[in-house]
Amino acid sequence: MMFVPEASNSAKEVTTSFYYILGIEVVLLSLVTSAMIFFVIRYRSRKHPRTENIEGSLALEIIWTVLPTLLVIIMFFIGWQSFTQIRKVPEGAMVVRVTARQWSWQFIYENGKQSDMLRVPVGSPVKLVMHSEDVLHCLYVPAFRIKEDCVPGMETYLWFTAENPGSYDIFCTEYCGLGHSGMLSKVIVMPVSEFKPWYSEGQEGKEARGLKLLETKGCLGCHSTDGSKKIGPTFKGLYGAEVEVLTNGKKRAIIADEEYLRRSITEPAADIVEGYPNIMPKLPVTDEEVKAIIEYLKELK
Ligand code: CUA
Repeated sequence: MMFVPEASNSAKEVTTSFYYILGIEVVLLSLVTSAMIFFVIRYRSRKHPRTENIEGSLALEIIWTVLPTLLVIIMFFIGWQSFTQIRKVPEGAMVVRVTARQWSWQFIYENGKQSDMLRVPVGSPVKLVMHSEDVLHCLYVPAFRIKEDCVPGMETYLWFTAENPGSYDIFCTEYCGLGHSGMLSKVIVMPVSEFKPWYSEGQEGKEARGLKLLETKGCLGCHSTDGSKKIGPTFKGLYGAEVEVLTNGKKRAIIADEEYLRRSITEPAADIVEGYPNIMPKLPVTDEEVKAIIEYLKELK
């Protein structure tokens, strides 16, 4: 289509059916509208005070039954062709598991690597196996013309072959609460020579681990590291600062020490920072991960 690039195997076919349907609509709209205007003028009451008796026409009846039927059948086949291609995953596709949650995307690769952005090699098929941890979400990549719901308690899938290196938007297109519009990510399509080392690269260094965890666990969907206000309070300068919180509905001031940070991660509803809604989900984190996150937050001045 005009503004969104076509960057996957199924993009062209979806665009073709879109334009076919749009074309038919434009032609029908102009025919009906011009016929209407023509009749209004031609048979206006001033010139035709008495209604004429119009006999039926077999030829017309046949034309306007057969022609639309043909158009709709063609429409069906164009749609059917691209639909079967979109649903039929080629063998040997690389599987990436997708977890959707309020309000972030997590991508887990076959070798255990995790990322908050979807990195894929150009030219080879990728299958996304998706589920949601809380409510309905929907993964949509406009440039690839693919879209599918993420549903709690069941697995759904999508597949694509990216055709051009580049970065393409991922949106959530199912209203999923306060952070819905911010539930964004990207597909980064890389040349195979760049993807391979990224994919096989081992665990990142220790310093970066805390930040990486904040990314992959989806924390940065709601908390910033630069002081800006998002759905939740920022992490910048948090450690050691005094925070006003509501504990069991009672206001109190508290110093953000290790104890406080640990409780806020493992029991998000225990202390609610003043001015923010009590909406943080409980995330699956190990003690070791909590430690790494706290180590990182301590350094974030
Ligand atoms: Cu997730 Cu909208």
